[in-house]
Amino acid sequence: MHDEARRPLRWWEGAVIYQVYPRSFRDANRDGIGDLAGIVERLDHLRGAPGALGVDAIWLSPIFPSPLHDFGYDISDYTGVAAEFGTLEDLDALVAAAHQRGLRILLDLVPCHTSVEHPWFIEARSSRHNARRDWFTWQDPAPDGGPPNNWVANFGGSSWTWDPATGQYYLHSFYPEQPDLNWRNPAVADALHDAMRFWLDRGIDGFRVDAIAHAIKDTHLRDNPPAGPHRTLFGEDPSGQERLWNVNRPEVHDVVRGLRRVADAYPDRLLVGEIYTSVENLAGYLGRGAGDEFQLAFDFELLLAPWQIADFRLAIERAEALHPEGTWPTYALSNHDNPRHATRYGAERAALAAFILLTLRGVAVLYAGEEIGMTDATALPGPPHDRAGRDAQRTPMQWTAEPGGGFTSGQPWLPLTDPQRVSVVAQQADPSSLLSLYRSLIALRHASPALRAGLHRSLFGVGEQVLAWTRELDGDRVLVVANMGTRTERLRLPPLGDRGEVLLATGGRRGRVQLAVLRLEPLEGLVIQL
Ligand code: NOJ
Ligand code: CA
Repeated sequence: MHDEARRPLRWWEGAVIYQVYPRSFRDANRDGIGDLAGIVERLDHLRGAPGALGVDAIWLSPIFPSPLHDFGYDISDYTGVAAEFGTLEDLDALVAAAHQRGLRILLDLVPCHTSVEHPWFIEARSSRHNARRDWFTWQDPAPDGGPPNNWVANFGGSSWTWDPATGQYYLHSFYPEQPDLNWRNPAVADALHDAMRFWLDRGIDGFRVDAIAHAIKDTHLRDNPPAGPHRTLFGEDPSGQERLWNVNRPEVHDVVRGLRRVADAYPDRLLVGEIYTSVENLAGYLGRGAGDEFQLAFDFELLLAPWQIADFRLAIERAEALHPEGTWPTYALSNHDNPRHATRYGAERAALAAFILLTLRGVAVLYAGEEIGMTDATALPGPPHDRAGRDAQRTPMQWTAEPGGGFTSGQPWLPLTDPQRVSVVAQQADPSSLLSLYRSLIALRHASPALRAGLHRSLFGVGEQVLAWTRELDGDRVLVVANMGTRTERLRLPPLGDRGEVLLATGGRRGRVQLAVLRLEPLEGLVIQL
C-alpha cells in the first residue's frame, strides 16, 4: 500500500460511493414509485451544486424489468429498464447528466440468478430437452422423493423447488422465484458478459456485483455438514449448516476473473463485489492483489459490528491487516438489506459513525438517507412487500418536511417514516446538522491527500473508549480520534508533536489544540493536522 499510494489514484481509490435505491429516491411522475427522471432531479444533492454532498459515484440498485419478488434482484430482462423507472433513454439522460457533474454511475449486476419470469428460465422449464435446460440446475428427487440435498436457501427453506411439469427440482440460493444460473455452462457466461457490455457500451462506469459467492456449486451436490460450535463474525448461520458445498467454491474466482476481463476491455471501469464473508476470504475476491478479480469488495465486518470499541477496533484492524497489498477496504454502515445504522446504534451516534466511516482508509459507501440520519420505519401497515422483512430500511428518501417528504406528490409505495422530523431541507442550511457534517467530511477527504489515500496507522491506549489513528501521505499527516463512549476522556497520545490544527470536528470545535492536554467529549471526533 505504502508505495502504491504514491502512484496516481484511480477514481475509486478513497472514493465515496452513494447507494440509491431507485424506488425510494425521488418520484418524478407522481405514481408513488421513484424513477430515473427523479434521480436526475436530485443530482444537485449529490454533486456539482452548492451544498452538494460531493460524492464520487452513485450505485443504483437494480433498475431492470422484474416481477419484484425480490424487488429487482429477480431480473426478467438484463438489458432493459423497468417501465416504472423509465426508459433506456431516461437512463442515457441520467448518465449524461451525472457525467457532466463528474459523477460516475454504477449499475447492479445480478449474475447468479434470474427471475422465474426470465425467458431463459421459461424455456428451460418447458422441457427436460430444451436447449436452455442446462442454463439452470435441475435434479431428480432424492430416493424419498424429497429435495436432492440438504442445502438451505438464504431466506429460509430448501434451496430446491419442485417443478411438477418436468418432474425435477431446480436450485435457488435465494427465493424460489430466483432460479440460480449455472455458471459451469459457458453459454451462461457469454450471455451475462454480453449484458455487461450492453451497459458498458452505454457509458456505465461499472457494477456492484450481487451475491457472487453463489455462482458455482459442488458438481456432486454434496450435503453441507452441520454448522460447527464456533460462532462466526457473522453470527449463527441461519441455515444451521456450514455452507461448504454451495457458497464460496474455489471456481467462483474463475467467474470473477471472467467478469473482470469484460470490464477491463473498457477504460476505468469498476467492479465492486458483494460477498458477506470474513475479510480473510474477501482477500481472495480481491485477487490477493493480483489485479484480476474485483477492484473493490464490501468488507461487511464493520457493518456487522455492534457499537462497542472492541468490535470496531477488531473490524478495523482486520481490514487493515488482511486486505492484500495495493487494495482498499470498502466499508458501508447501511444498505437496503440491513437495519439502518442510526437505528442499530441510536440516532445520537450517527454523527460519530459517519466520522469513523469517512476518516478510515478505504472506500466509503453511503446508503441514501443516512446523511440526514434516517432511521427504520417502526410499524408499516399492510402485508410486507419484502418477505424477508427489509421494508423498514427501504422507505422513501425524506427531502422536505411535507407528508410526501418531497419524494412524491402521489401515494408513496411505502409510507415515509418521519419527514417532519428528519429531512434534507431542515438540515441543508444548518452548519451543525448531520448533513453538513457529511458534506464537510467528504470535502475534507477530497482536500486532504492523507485522508483520501494515506497510510493508516492505528494508535492504541489513547483512551478507554477512544479509537485513534494517523493517516499519512508524502509528509502530510493527520490524527483522527473518536470517542465512542459516554464520558469525557483525557487522551494519552504518543509523541506526535506539541500542537495541531483541528481540520474537522463532529461538535464544531476549531483552532489549534495542545496534544498533551487534549480532551474528547462523549461521541466527539476530531481530525487534527499534525
Ligand atoms: C443481495 C441483495 O443486496 C439483496 O437485496 C438480494 O435479496 C440478494 N442479494 C439476492 O439477489
Ligand atoms: Ca414514478
